[in-house]
Amino acid sequence: MATGIIGVGHYLPESILTNKDLEKMVDTTDEWIRTRTGIETRHIAKKEEETSDMAYYAAKNALDHSGLEAEDIDLILVATVTADQSFPSVACQVQEKLGATHATAMDIGAACSGFIYGVVTAKQFIDGGTYRNILVIGAEKLSKITDWSDRNTCVLFGDGAGAAVVSEVSEDKGILSFELGADGKGATSLHQDGGNIRMNGREVFKFAVRQMPESAEAVVKKAGLVKEDVDYLIPHQANIRIMEAARERLGISKEKMSYSVNKYGNTSAASIPISLSEDVRNGKITNGDLVVLVGFGGGLTWGSMALRW
Ligand code: ACO
Repeated sequence: MATGIIGVGHYLPESILTNKDLEKMVDTTDEWIRTRTGIETRHIAKKEEETSDMAYYAAKNALDHSGLEAEDIDLILVATVTADQSFPSVACQVQEKLGATHATAMDIGAACSGFIYGVVTAKQFIDGGTYRNILVIGAEKLSKITDWSDRNTCVLFGDGAGAAVVSEVSEDKGILSFELGADGKGATSLHQDGGNIRMNGREVFKFAVRQMPESAEAVVKKAGLVKEDVDYLIPHQANIRIMEAARERLGISKEKMSYSVNKYGNTSAASIPISLSEDVRNGKITNGDLVVLVGFGGGLTWGSMALRW
């Protein structure tokens, strides 16, 4: 048997903030945001809607899709930089909300790469025979750590959650290869200060356009495959120009790349699982496809994975 994903789900809060709305808040334009980032709208959670609520809705959705019950889950991993509080973990809150009474639970901090770190961690527990079914969630309420007076950052981010159930799958499917990386020297390029996100956009951009394509290509090679074998690419949805760099390196067409940054902005750890869930449900990813996931984020961190759907 191999380890893979048997169910996916996602959740986005109702309220939508457009570029036109942002024009009224900071010195920016719809045109600047669209051409520099590809973002048109983003979803923003209500004051009382917390990261753990969004994580729960996405998790419930993924569990239903997998056909498992909450009691079947052995471990819950939540990737987030916007936990409701520093403790308890969001994972413990989700465990309680779901009634996943047999599961242990913890959060993972790897910023936007967090979901990939979570799935890789889950794989180790399953491959090692410790656990059978693991719920991995990426959930963020970035709106609560966004400085709404800083045009350099406030146009970029959105709220949401995505989830996947990781379990045993047949030998011809599942996770074929992965790569995780970190470079603490880049910590100040993207960090939280005084409660808000602070970013050196140009530094992060340079890092991301180099690292994402490299890492995407590396996992394809590690899987013993070639670029031409890739059926679908899910890059972290931060900026269309960074995503395009990864797509061009793999030499695949635009239709083969997940694209939701226009609707949701950058939802950090939630962006890859939201895309995965949407694209499985809308039929863009089908049985037997070779899917590459690749992300980067604060830390600095990066992670990628090749999996056979
Ligand atoms: N509206 C209008 N002008 C703006 C805005 C805005 N919202 N934001 C910045 N500008 C200005 C800048 O002040 C600058 O003006 P100046 O030349 O007078 O100094 C000018 O636009 C150009 O700035 P650049 O930094 O050169 O713009 P660039 O083309 O690099 O785009 C961007 C900026 C979109 C932030 C880009 O650098 C980027 O995407 N970086 C990576 C960001 C990222 O992915 N962050 C998160 C990753 S990890 C995570 O998800 C947490």
